[in-house]
Amino acid sequence: MDNLDNNEIYLNNNKRSSELWQRAVDLFPGGISHNIRTWDFPKLGLYPPFIKKAKGAFLYTEDGQRLIDFWIGHYSNILGHTPDILIDAIVEATHEGTHFGTVNERALKLGEEIRKATPSIEQLRFCSSGSEATSYSVRLARGFTHRSLVVKMQGGWHGGNSQLFKDISPPFGVKYRGLVKDPNLISCSYNDIDEIKKCFEQFGDEIAAVILEPVLISGGVEAASKEFLQTVRHLTTKYGAVLIFDEVITGFRLSYSSAQGYFGVTPDLTCLGKIIGGGLAIGAYGGKKEIMAIANPENGESVWVGGGTFSGNPLSSSTGLATLNALKERGSAFYDTLNKTGEDFVKSIKDLVSDNSLPVKISGAASLMSINYNSLEKIKSKKTNLPNLNTFHQMSLINKGVFVRGGLGALSSEHKKDLLDHTLEALDQTFKEISSMLQ
Ligand SMILES: Cc1ncc(COP(=O)(O)O)c(C=O)c1O
Repeated sequence: MDNLDNNEIYLNNNKRSSELWQRAVDLFPGGISHNIRTWDFPKLGLYPPFIKKAKGAFLYTEDGQRLIDFWIGHYSNILGHTPDILIDAIVEATHEGTHFGTVNERALKLGEEIRKATPSIEQLRFCSSGSEATSYSVRLARGFTHRSLVVKMQGGWHGGNSQLFKDISPPFGVKYRGLVKDPNLISCSYNDIDEIKKCFEQFGDEIAAVILEPVLISGGVEAASKEFLQTVRHLTTKYGAVLIFDEVITGFRLSYSSAQGYFGVTPDLTCLGKIIGGGLAIGAYGGKKEIMAIANPENGESVWVGGGTFSGNPLSSSTGLATLNALKERGSAFYDTLNKTGEDFVKSIKDLVSDNSLPVKISGAASLMSINYNSLEKIKSKKTNLPNLNTFHQMSLINKGVFVRGGLGALSSEHKKDLLDHTLEALDQTFKEISSMLQ
């Protein structure tokens, strides 16, 4: 089956989405409210499928197709979509009120549980997104150190906040319109010990913070080596800079003590989001008491960091707490199984790729995984009529009942063996389609 056949199947399967997309492009610039939600399908002359509902490991499209979902709400839904415990938590909390705009015990309980679970967090604050968490963490680090320079990693995605919007994806060095040139933000290559050492040799006394994802996710699912994390920990301590782990995705995903527990390296500040809201909007940032103390407005020269209108709202706090309680109850066996399932699944995909002699990059870390075809672009460029292969891959898989992002995505506890086997069959067919297109 080639690109045109797949396009035709997609168009046939997604007629209502086509109608909705016409309305969306008229209303929202690009048809979306988050840039990645087009799935790049306009490049194929298509549109993304509109989703009507989600349960367990499945999304259900407006046209009635059931898709095994590896995107699981931007990686948030580690227990699958809409588990009953979340419905119960929302109903129970809603009866008492959706948002008071005041201090409340539900937020307190969630915060206490996060602190108990997370080695580095002595105090924390809530906000409503991961982008806010990373933005406020950087501000705290600058306020604490009285320095300006921030180091991030190439390929690191910390949300849309302007302070960290640099070298997001290759080719690095691209300028983004609307952003002011920021001499106080530099980037280093991920997992490159020599480069980060040189960076500290050159700028050490000026560096306020290093912010990094312990597993680079948008940048291609690459786990940090323990040696790299230990080196950055050592350098930041030596030079008096703040080490910030952006655990918005890895938090409560790699283990109940997050990536910092998994790798055994403790940051000064941690950013959280996604899983800690159990599928509702949330963010949090926290860490060493002496750093967090400067957020206290009662302290003379405090640093203004906040959380906004919906911070610590009772609904997100309740769904977050229900999720953490469920994860805690299942214990380390839950993470052992999820992570092992992810690693085995990635291995099976690598086998498929080698059976199909396709030089595709498959990467994984615990229950996170990605597939990308960037290395094939050179071969492809000789065949100018071929579609972008990463985009084609997503579309071809939807036609086979599988929904992915970044080539694949993440597992939830609902991704049982039969669904993974179905996904492997779908991937095998897609790999074969791509191989034959490249002949
Ligand atoms: C590592 C990381 N940090 C921060 C963010 C931003 O979170 P949010 O989209 O909730 O603002 C994301 C979002 O995907 C992320 O992956």
